[in-house]
Amino acid sequence: MIITTLVFDAYGTLFDITAPARRAAATRPELVTIWPKLAEDWRRKQLEYTWLRTITGAYADFAQVTADALDWAMQAHDLADPALRRDLLALYDALDAFPEVPDTLRLLRGRGLHLAILSNGTPSMLASAQRAAQLTGLIDTTLSVDPLHIYKPHASVYAQVETQTGAAPQQVLFVSSNGWDIAGAARFGFATAWVNRAGAPQDRLPDTPQHEIPDLSHLPRLIA
Ligand code: LAC
Repeated sequence: MIITTLVFDAYGTLFDITAPARRAAATRPELVTIWPKLAEDWRRKQLEYTWLRTITGAYADFAQVTADALDWAMQAHDLADPALRRDLLALYDALDAFPEVPDTLRLLRGRGLHLAILSNGTPSMLASAQRAAQLTGLIDTTLSVDPLHIYKPHASVYAQVETQTGAAPQQVLFVSSNGWDIAGAARFGFATAWVNRAGAPQDRLPDTPQHEIPDLSHLPRLIA
């Protein structure tokens, strides 16, 4: 079947989640050497908490999970600094898009494709990120896990695409930088493109990516 709909993961795929720690390090000497590890620990804990809260039935929204994960990461790095915490969370609410994102989305829209976001982020976080990165108007549909109170990669999350846009799974190309998200989406029945910016090894999970690309600028040729 022909691909009609591109569904993007948000954090790490469209938006650069290392930007808050990197930006904060520009004015805080104590972060200069540790900011990459701080960003990595923050992300790892954020994802672990989404999975654990889903498995245990203890849902809290992604804003809460993101703040909890930051608290863990800051403590792990001996950073007891309420102003830094406030600044990092504010920067997370206004992330940069990766440089190729706006032009690629424009090009794909020009081809008549329906563009959607499907993310763990709350509707308010996703609106704020799109505003800050000047993507408003380039995305047709923004879907959040929040109404379901369940995180990716639960199948019910991916099922929202068909109920909200009408696109059958075989008409969807799902695009994510997260190997585990790609595995979940492939298992659900979407075609998949794994955005492997860092050249990471492929996850050892049963469902593998259909395409692997280094950034989003390679998408138009995949669906030519
Ligand atoms: C999201 C996270 C998983 O946007 O990156 O859903």
